[in-house]
Amino acid sequence: MRQRISQATAVALTAGLIACGDKGDDTATGAAPTADDTTYYEHVVPVLAENCTRCHYDGGLGPADFTDPDTVMDWSNSMHSAIESGRMAPPAADPTCQDYVGSDVLTVSDEEKATFEAWIEGGMTLGEPADTPEFAVVSGELSDPNLEVLMAEAYTPTYIDDENPDNEYRCFILDPELDQDVYITAMAPIVDQDPIVHHAVLFTVPEDSVSEDWRDPSGVDCIDGGGGNDADAMIAGWAPGMLPIEFPENTGMKLGADSVLVLQMHYFTSGSSTEGVSDRSGYAFRVQDTVETEVIMAPLGSTNFKIPADEAAHTHEDSFTNTYLDIDIHGVFPHMHRLGTEYAMSIEEEDGTETCVVRGDYDFDNQMTYQFAEPLLLPMGAKLTWSCTWNNSSSNPALEGAEPETVRYGERTDEEMCFFFSLISY
Ligand code: HEC
Repeated sequence: MRQRISQATAVALTAGLIACGDKGDDTATGAAPTADDTTYYEHVVPVLAENCTRCHYDGGLGPADFTDPDTVMDWSNSMHSAIESGRMAPPAADPTCQDYVGSDVLTVSDEEKATFEAWIEGGMTLGEPADTPEFAVVSGELSDPNLEVLMAEAYTPTYIDDENPDNEYRCFILDPELDQDVYITAMAPIVDQDPIVHHAVLFTVPEDSVSEDWRDPSGVDCIDGGGGNDADAMIAGWAPGMLPIEFPENTGMKLGADSVLVLQMHYFTSGSSTEGVSDRSGYAFRVQDTVETEVIMAPLGSTNFKIPADEAAHTHEDSFTNTYLDIDIHGVFPHMHRLGTEYAMSIEEEDGTETCVVRGDYDFDNQMTYQFAEPLLLPMGAKLTWSCTWNNSSSNPALEGAEPETVRYGERTDEEMCFFFSLISY
């Protein structure tokens, strides 16, 4: 029951591959592979390694082991349709709007799509293991951390929420036990059991605001967020594939001696192989006592929206004119709730120049901070505009068959948000 891609499509795509060049093979002629000479080992393995197998391995977060050639052949149809529809790899910001750190592993390029299609079209030839090119496995771990904070104890998710089968959102207090303020110059999560860690969000909250039940070392159920007031407290979002956040030299974000961290873990089970697995994750930082430039988290966004019932694509637009001073944007973490489908932010300068900041299809289960290799300048006088789009109709699976109702801003998961948590300095 294999759905064949038409010969014309495959040829056109392969021609595109030659024109673009940079993902071509490294044979003496430098020619890109055609459908007939595309092999699993030489061409497909690197594509899957870059885009898929960090989640799809034996016992991984995603179903099926895509490091195994027989499995890949069996799954090739659904893999192809998942890639084409944009379901997989899970949606991340569009690098053609603005490139960001790690975009090559977070999005499947047109060349990579063409290679996979050409391989299916050519009859899925295996080739020789010896032809597998060397490829770098990118690590999301922070190098040389000098502050690491783990959950107080390991936790075994129970996945008992009927409204979210196979998922669990749980918050843990991470106490860095600081005796003085420090500045975070780099950070990344320490993921203990990656087969069950779907995504993680980090907050800071004043220590004296933490209530007794939140201090439970086995955490608290917290699908509605982790900081009490998300808008003040969210500092970073992470999903598999994201690289550490690293600020330019002598630039950092304050972590006060009187604050603690809240780690919201989204656990996910893909079946029996991950049941009973306990996790003790945490966060790693590079910190220093002082910095020249302080980064702050600006919760840019809108709260004055109303999403009418039964609208499949309701967009709210808003803007902020920077009348203050030149601002550097280091990274942006777009955040909506379950109904969110698309987001966009751009800079409009006084002379009409427009710069796309971040744009993409929204996936509640794959939220992260998009960090720019070089900070983007928001000059004084420029306008920052943003938009959020929601699907508040029964065509949205997130409503799970419930009757759509008017939705407004709020912290609860059945209310909505439209935030671009932005890491900025000036
Ligand atoms: C960040 C982790 C992650 C990455 C990277 C990832 N997947 Fe998945 N994938 C999942 C999870 C989790 C599921 C099961 C739940 C779901 O469908 O969201 C899944 C489900 C699937 C499914 C079955 C459901 C469907 O939508 O068809 C296919 C096929 C698939 N992935 C293919 C791929 C391919 C191909 C890639 C690489 C281009 C990839 N995935 C990359 C996590 C990932």
